[in-house]
Amino acid sequence: EQGILRYRGIPIEELAEKSTFVETAYLIIYGHLPDRNELKNFSDLLTEHQNIHEDMKYHFEGFPSTSHPMAILSAMINASGCFDLTLMKGGCSSQFDSHVAQLISQVRTIAAFSYRKSHGLPIIYPKKAYKYTANFLHMLFSQPYEDYELKPEVVRALDLIFLLHADHEQNCSTATVRMVASSQANLYASCAAGVCALWGPLHGGANQAVVEMLVDIHKSGDDGSKFITAAKDKNSGKKLMGFGHRVYKNYDPRAKIIKKACDEVLGSLDINDPLLEIAKKLEEAALRDSYFVERKLYPNVDFYSGIIMRALGIPVEMFTVIFAIGRMPGWIANYKEIADDTKSRISRPRQVYMGEPLNTYVPMSKRK
Ligand code: SDX
Repeated sequence: EQGILRYRGIPIEELAEKSTFVETAYLIIYGHLPDRNELKNFSDLLTEHQNIHEDMKYHFEGFPSTSHPMAILSAMINASGCFDLTLMKGGCSSQFDSHVAQLISQVRTIAAFSYRKSHGLPIIYPKKAYKYTANFLHMLFSQPYEDYELKPEVVRALDLIFLLHADHEQNCSTATVRMVASSQANLYASCAAGVCALWGPLHGGANQAVVEMLVDIHKSGDDGSKFITAAKDKNSGKKLMGFGHRVYKNYDPRAKIIKKACDEVLGSLDINDPLLEIAKKLEEAALRDSYFVERKLYPNVDFYSGIIMRALGIPVEMFTVIFAIGRMPGWIANYKEIADDTKSRISRPRQVYMGEPLNTYVPMSKRK
């Protein structure tokens, strides 16, 4: 009800202000803030594993250029696991820390490579000198003849987006990772399944759906009021994307942080995006409208995140991939919890069967 979010007990607002995505990933996976040594070792492991096997490029070539990056991401996580047979075993082996760093580091490289391939651009390899988020932006936007200019405010904004998506209790995709992990499938298989669950527009796909909704409203010249009316009409097939939440019946604390960051990032980059004004108008109208107030529908993490990603030059089809990169530590922490629990059992939901309790086989000649 209060809209409180804490990672291992630390308020999200404090981490957003003082931490980084890599430090927060360590906190979520290992349960405590790393000391200087632990953070350096973790960061070095991420650098050590930043590349993917060179033969992975043949897999990229197999995808049509129109492939959605979430399809590529899920497939390539499993594909990259095939190049290290120690990854194929489930549970937490002695190499778990290395596997964790491999997955967190490589998911970023795979995402960048899939973006480059789908835009007919040459692959840009990671640089040892760059830290996690800067390296991702470098792989996304540099050219063979010219490095992308890494503006600190851009790196910080994307790092904040990753951090704010890092974990969120038993959401649809995390529950999927736990389900797959419970069969003692390996870490890569479990997180590849999480990518598929996250893809849906009711879940992580909402950030892409929000921007597509705002673009449509902008193009139609609507000031948002027509759309709000449609979103309240069940027959319209429209929802106010980025609004509502299974758990938060109040303002998603992440949305508050991202909305503030929107103004800061667009201001510092001197960008005036009409979609931000439309989003603010929609929020204002919805928070005054009894339909939304009675149903306790507030902005969630996806409502403003796409506007920042647009400002950073990230294409809309990559938005949910950014969410997946951010959510990887949460998925891994949940996988680890199951793998570490010697008493954990396979997940097996019960069902209430509503059909005929007993039937008999009817030969084709006797069927209607
Ligand atoms: C994420 O679980 C997590 O933690 C997820 C997440 C994470 O970090 O992992 O926080 C990330 O997925 C955020 C949610 C992103 N999805 C969207 O923004 C899509 C739009 N939102 C809705 O589809 C919906 O609000 C959900 C899916 C988020 C929540 O669905 P619920 O809890 O099942 O809500 P509901 O469908 O029961 O809705 C209750 C009522 C219904 O109307 P009535 O039947 O009471 O008349 O509210 C209406 C719904 O029709 N409603 C909406 C609405 N969301 C709910 N009406 C218009 N627009 C909306 N967005």
